[in-house]
Amino acid sequence: MAIVIAVANQKGGVGKTTTAVNLAAGLAIKLRHEGTHPGKILLVDADPQGHGLMAVGFGRHLAAPEESLAALLVETPPPSIQRMLRQGIHQSNLDYIPGNTQAMVAARARLPSLLAREQRLARALAPIADTYAYIIIDTPPTLDDLMINALVAATHVLIPVEPSYLGLTGLKDLQHAIEQVRLHLAKDDLRILGYLPTRCVQQRVEVQEIVDYLREHYPERTLQPIHETTDLTYAHSAHMDVFTYRPPRSRQDGRLESSSRATQEYARLVNEVVRRTRPQSG
Ligand SMILES: Nc1ncnc2c1ncn2[C@@H]1O[C@H](COP(=O)(O)OP(=O)(O)OP(=O)(O)O)[C@@H](O)[C@H]1O
Ligand SMILES: [Mg+2]
Repeated sequence: MAIVIAVANQKGGVGKTTTAVNLAAGLAIKLRHEGTHPGKILLVDADPQGHGLMAVGFGRHLAAPEESLAALLVETPPPSIQRMLRQGIHQSNLDYIPGNTQAMVAARARLPSLLAREQRLARALAPIADTYAYIIIDTPPTLDDLMINALVAATHVLIPVEPSYLGLTGLKDLQHAIEQVRLHLAKDDLRILGYLPTRCVQQRVEVQEIVDYLREHYPERTLQPIHETTDLTYAHSAHMDVFTYRPPRSRQDGRLESSSRATQEYARLVNEVVRRTRPQSG
């Protein structure tokens, strides 16, 4: 069964998409070189904005409404998910489900009136759960049905945190939503994989204070921070993951790190995610 990681925080612009894309790509490279079975990764973009898909399937990431993720969420019966899967452009073992912004906005509006509205994504993914080692879900910056669908489909939640006092205030609401999903939607094994300080600016005192706060309150769950670097912005503008944008001289041994700090920090995250999820992967 796939490990399903929802990258979530209802605060906007904290690095969810950047983290989802680079985690998915880094896992794909790592598993490909290790020859793991199944060695495939799926990126699911549950955000109508569809930013995540631009980095993995640019130019091919859009589909007609009935062939997009939105149809899986609202159609009865849902279309076949197998026929929707497409291969990413940079990593041969990274698949995605195409999106359609308008259809996704419409789906978000329709969901509240549908039966089993919180379980739609989980049910859609069930037939392919054995095909993938990891399924990474990018989520919208809202605590709505789309986000809840992602949490219900997930085995783990990865929470990017912007290191500002404002960034901390929303965490309680997110933790509450996760607790509700655990209790009311029979997901008591849903785990918080970690809090990931993102967009950290080295010189700012506030950043260190927030990271210290996280380490004090969540000692086991606070991950090594990701710093603010232009490589991440440029990679996304170039519709690439950062490992493709700033590759090492040789990828022979499955190496992820290059001279770019962003590749080193996201590689560290990839390794930590594998370490934390491996016992369950069997
Ligand atoms: N560590 C970083 N260093 C520099 N730029 C970053 C970093 N992380 C993210 N960015 C940039 O910040 C912007 C917001 O990041 P991103 O889209 O990943 O956030 P998000 O949480 O997915 O946003 P939204 O809530 O709108 O979906 C993007 O332009 C992205 O390229
Ligand atoms: Mg995003």
